[in-house]
Amino acid sequence: MNMPLIDPFARAITYLRLSVTDRCDFRCVYCMSENMTFLPKRDLLTLEELDRLCSRFIAMGVRKLRITGGEPLVRREIMTFFKAMGRHLENGTLDELTLTTNGSQLEKYAGALYTAGVRRINVSLDTLDEAKFAEVTRWGRLPQVLRGLDAAQAAGLRVKLNAVALKGFNEDELFTLAEFCAQRDMDLTWIEVMPMGDIGNENRIGQYWSLKELRKTLETQYTLTDLSDRTGGPARYVRVEETGQKIGLITPLSHNFCESCNRVRITCTGEIYTCLGQDGKSDLRAPLRASEGNEQLDDAIRAAIGLKPKGHDFDYSRQNVEGQVARHMSHTGG
Ligand code: GTP
Ligand code: 5AD
Ligand code: SF4
Repeated sequence: MNMPLIDPFARAITYLRLSVTDRCDFRCVYCMSENMTFLPKRDLLTLEELDRLCSRFIAMGVRKLRITGGEPLVRREIMTFFKAMGRHLENGTLDELTLTTNGSQLEKYAGALYTAGVRRINVSLDTLDEAKFAEVTRWGRLPQVLRGLDAAQAAGLRVKLNAVALKGFNEDELFTLAEFCAQRDMDLTWIEVMPMGDIGNENRIGQYWSLKELRKTLETQYTLTDLSDRTGGPARYVRVEETGQKIGLITPLSHNFCESCNRVRITCTGEIYTCLGQDGKSDLRAPLRASEGNEQLDDAIRAAIGLKPKGHDFDYSRQNVEGQVARHMSHTGG
């Protein structure tokens, strides 16, 4: 058995987020700029290389693998990759294979995801209003995503919606989104908007809606009970006693959760980012390609984990409108 991955702050790394493409069929305002330049396809790791990378992490103790993008389901042949990763579920070395998606391709892929072993997915959806959806995603169409949700549930996938909390944008949908999810037996997670990427005309500080405030508003109509359940991600959950549904709160700004961080991210070119809120990265592509043996790659992975910082330092009180982390969220898929 390989030694587990432990970072300098004694946190075990058991959750790998793998971005399989930087491309997306949407252009969400907090995630990408309108005119993104994407990587040439030749720079991407092949699916075989991604497989080998993930397999090394799993051998070193990763138990949860989340596929992200960009939009992961726009990568060509991605189902081949999901099927290949399913073998780690079958042999018991992986607890969960999952993805975060914008939902646009779910109608097409929900059944195949289930067959590959995926049981639970997170779908990003900030609004149920068609015009607002088109505004926030710039390119997205709501009915297509709603059909995707139906297909996912019909295929047997448990669905959680991720909504980025945006002041003046979806504040008025707090209860509508909760009811929508309760009726469909879906969980819901709210996320505080993080200052990443070039922001252009967006005013990220003006958009910031603290989940402390959001929770207070929820409590005007609901009785909330704090739950100790965790999904291995950063959310803390509450149960709405009136509906029985679970609502997750991801609060990088108002309640930092870095102390219990268990995750790292790999980009589609084989860079590893050990913190979402920092620019530090290491290259795994060269050691991956240097040899068919695993020694160099394993050493590079351990060296990268050895540089994992204590936490992010996002801070809206600094009042700078520019992203405090230069790269776009789409680079690592959150
Ligand atoms: P579950 O398995 O359902 O708990 O999912 P998850 O929350 O781990 O994954 P998801 O892709 O749904 O992420 C939701 C949000 O949490 C995204 O906006 C991520 O950017 C954010 N997030 C995930 N991990 C971290 C982290 O380590 N730091 C910060 N600041 N945000 C994170
Ligand atoms: N702040 C917070 N969440 C973000 N996401 C994308 N960009 C941001 C941001 N700047 C979310 C998406 C998706 C997840 C992967 O990250 O909505 O749910
Ligand atoms: Fe695409 Fe997701 Fe980024 Fe939106 S948040 S642009 S759907 S990767």
